[in-house]
Amino acid sequence: MSTEHDQADSTGLHAELTRFLRDSGALTSDWAEAFEAVPRAAFLPDLMWPFDMDTGAGLPVDRRTDPAGWERAAYSDVPVTIQWDDGQHPGPGPGRVPTSSASMPSVVARMLADIEVFPDARVLEIGTGTGWNAGLLSARLGDRNVVTVEVDESVAERARAVLRRLGLHPDVVCGDGRDGRPDTAPYDRVLVTAGVRDMPAAWSAQTRPGGLIVAPWGTHYCDEDALVRLTVADDGSASGPFCRPLEFMKIRAQRLDWRRFGSHVERYPGDAAESVTTVTLSDLGEERRFSAAKFVIGLCVPDCAHVLNTGRGASDESGESTVWFFDMTEGSRSWASVVSRPGEAKAVVRQSGPRKLWDEVSRALEWWRGQGSPRVESFGLTVTPEGAQRPWLAGPAHPVPSFAE
Ligand SMILES: C[S@@+](CC[C@H](N)C(=O)[O-])C[C@H]1O[C@@H](n2cnc3c(N)ncnc32)[C@H](O)[C@@H]1O
Repeated sequence: MSTEHDQADSTGLHAELTRFLRDSGALTSDWAEAFEAVPRAAFLPDLMWPFDMDTGAGLPVDRRTDPAGWERAAYSDVPVTIQWDDGQHPGPGPGRVPTSSASMPSVVARMLADIEVFPDARVLEIGTGTGWNAGLLSARLGDRNVVTVEVDESVAERARAVLRRLGLHPDVVCGDGRDGRPDTAPYDRVLVTAGVRDMPAAWSAQTRPGGLIVAPWGTHYCDEDALVRLTVADDGSASGPFCRPLEFMKIRAQRLDWRRFGSHVERYPGDAAESVTTVTLSDLGEERRFSAAKFVIGLCVPDCAHVLNTGRGASDESGESTVWFFDMTEGSRSWASVVSRPGEAKAVVRQSGPRKLWDEVSRALEWWRGQGSPRVESFGLTVTPEGAQRPWLAGPAHPVPSFAE
């Protein structure tokens, strides 16, 4: 049961988070009133898993046993997982894949600023999650202007109940957000709060010309995304720049199941062709999150997933690192690997199967360097009315080349 003291505490934490968001520039003045009126904690369940930004782990916090820790986490600028493994994971320990969450408050605030709403703007949100974002939109624009779609029935039902309790009534729809919500279209803004790999044509079709679609978008090369801000044109195409790197959990049907790549390398190295390279992990952008190198390789080498295995564990004192590349094309098992050791100038490359993935990756890197190693923000995306995706550099007239053979 909450006491007067608890209430004062949480009001203080809420005010502190709002101040932090304002001071950091994430929260714009036009959204401040909504953030003050709609507290994040009201949308979080008793048992939740705040993301530890240092370790990357999600550790359980239960309000019933640790109310102070719970309040602190609820008002921290960290993502909080509320569901694992599409609800199939019971118990307090973290599951395998986080599948629903409350995004980081600073990310929520920035994305709300990105959609540049105006009085009475109609917004379609994809990925209701806790319902916090939908609640903020409703507080600012009115219930009748907000439609939010959530694929998971129990998550949608929970969000609807929390919103109702707070006197907020946006239209919470359970369904596949990739279809948008045609019944209540057109929208002025589509705000996507799950990572997409293939931008559904339905979103532009349901947006008014001149309207905006803001979404975390990425390739299958890695899980990192970049926020894209597309303006919809009269002909139904949508085009715009990548604004900044970020990472979201993916739209359910577009998640990558890394276990599938085990069968690519059943017999390692098998008949793989061997060569050497002087390209380093740093050149590949592996030494930090959100490197432009990884983003650009993903753009230029379609249908290629990659993963870095570092031999930092106690069982491997060599410090050997392997970067794996896997062909995602249906029926193909092409793969490549690059094994490097600290202090050795050359890494060993192995390639197997009809697609020479390392050749494609190294040509993509060479192209990017030849362009002056542009940042993620120099790139953009056009989605045709049919849903084809065309990444570009410095404008739609300069498509990014594909090095897939
Ligand atoms: C990061 S959470 C969204 C955070 C949310 N906007 C909030 O304010 O708490 C992503 C959500 O997208 C949902 N999702 C995944 N695939 C979806 C799909 N195809 N259609 C609609 N929602 C989807 C997930 O179930 C999850 O709840």
